[in-house]
Amino acid sequence: LLSGISPAVADSRSASRAGSAPALSAARARVQPTPGSSSGGDPYFPRQGNGGYDALGYRIHVEYTPSSHALKGHAIVRARATKALSKFNLDLRRTMKVTSVTVDGRAARFSQPARAVQELAITPAKALRKDQTFTVSVRYAGTTTPVTDPDGSPDGWIPTPDGAFVASEPQGSPSWFPVNDSPKDKALYAVSITVPKGITAVSNGNLLSARTAHGRTTWAWQLNQPVSSYLVTATVGKFTLTKGRTGKGVPYLIAVDPTQRSQSAKVLKKLPAMVDYFSSVYGRYPFGSAGAIVDNAPNVGYALETATRPVFDSAPDELTLAHELAHQWYGDDVTLARWRDIWLNEGFAEFSSWLWDEHSGGTSAAAHLSTLMAVPADDPVWSPPPGNPGSAAAIFSDSVYERGAATLQALREKLGDPVFFAVMRGWAGAHRYGNATVPEFVHFAGSVSGQDLTAFFQNWLYASGKPTR
Ligand code: ARG
Ligand code: ZN
Repeated sequence: LLSGISPAVADSRSASRAGSAPALSAARARVQPTPGSSSGGDPYFPRQGNGGYDALGYRIHVEYTPSSHALKGHAIVRARATKALSKFNLDLRRTMKVTSVTVDGRAARFSQPARAVQELAITPAKALRKDQTFTVSVRYAGTTTPVTDPDGSPDGWIPTPDGAFVASEPQGSPSWFPVNDSPKDKALYAVSITVPKGITAVSNGNLLSARTAHGRTTWAWQLNQPVSSYLVTATVGKFTLTKGRTGKGVPYLIAVDPTQRSQSAKVLKKLPAMVDYFSSVYGRYPFGSAGAIVDNAPNVGYALETATRPVFDSAPDELTLAHELAHQWYGDDVTLARWRDIWLNEGFAEFSSWLWDEHSGGTSAAAHLSTLMAVPADDPVWSPPPGNPGSAAAIFSDSVYERGAATLQALREKLGDPVFFAVMRGWAGAHRYGNATVPEFVHFAGSVSGQDLTAFFQNWLYASGKPTR
């Protein structure tokens, strides 16, 4: 599923230019299949994503051996051609070697060019028509290798002593499955993972089954709402599973590594109340299931809002749990359209952790803002400006989180609670399972509030240095 301005738009523009050629070739030019782009067009991560099709759903099966880091995969991708395609690409790292590809059941030619880090180029036996829905089957295997992000952190399939911590923001998915790895191409996911008996594999959505045969267990999961590929997990390890329902009836499933059990128990007890609180202020919970995965992944250094079930590298503190749960609305339901729009994810989630703190009788969001405003102007927390971090290495900088959260608290104080929360609820509602940009939010807040907020957002999101109050 694609939304916003997609590579497909650019493709169809060039197709209509071709159509202005001499009369006879005009009709033919329009249907002449051409290769899809190997880039989704995001300047921060130009290798990510591809053009010419819209992925609709993935069925991924991986078999993982923790002791050797060996992974064997079979991915079935259902997609729709957005133009006539002679060939197209998926994103898959060369650490995963492809052994066979079919398109609609027929063997297809494929290559993993050495000069491209994560391109799987596929030439179907028969070209694809515009709007044709097709199914790609890819078999592959390799030794998992995490990706190193521009900020230096590991990403993707990250081995742990008892399994793997799987967190793919911003670019880890192609380390373990073939994908149109653009945050704009949301799709449905059914993930199943085969691991040695006694080991658990946790993915997104509902647990369909866990079947053991010949000393190995296959865990099958399914997510019924479309999400971006960086939000998919398949975290493997020793876990204890706990199921329940929140007070408002949202089913949840929590997986906890036994080494983190005692440190995380008190905070995890608050999970149902957090989900229900956020749905009371932001609108109904966007997914069919909630929960958390608390792992023991020493070298990761972050948590991630994987869809329905955020993944934590160790027992989270209360505000970190609140942050990741709030991402289910801001990040997972309405998702950045470009990586420079990261404030829509991180600023909103961080502000939400302040809001939870206030709601649960801790520090008010106003006090969080005052504390931050006492930080000197030359402190790194003020830059880069969260509305335009400027580079891929800066998307997770403190300013995006802290100055980003401050922006929303300042907006709240300017508009008053009724209007502010109407903006917040309306924003999630207007972009359900979609994508959006920071300028779209600025425009949206202005139109819901009926105020000219241009100068306000210029000061908080775009000005260099410390915003003025
Ligand atoms: N989105 C995550 C959060 O909740 C942070 C992910 C950081 N990832 C990274 N590769 N540095 O804040
Ligand atoms: Zn976050």
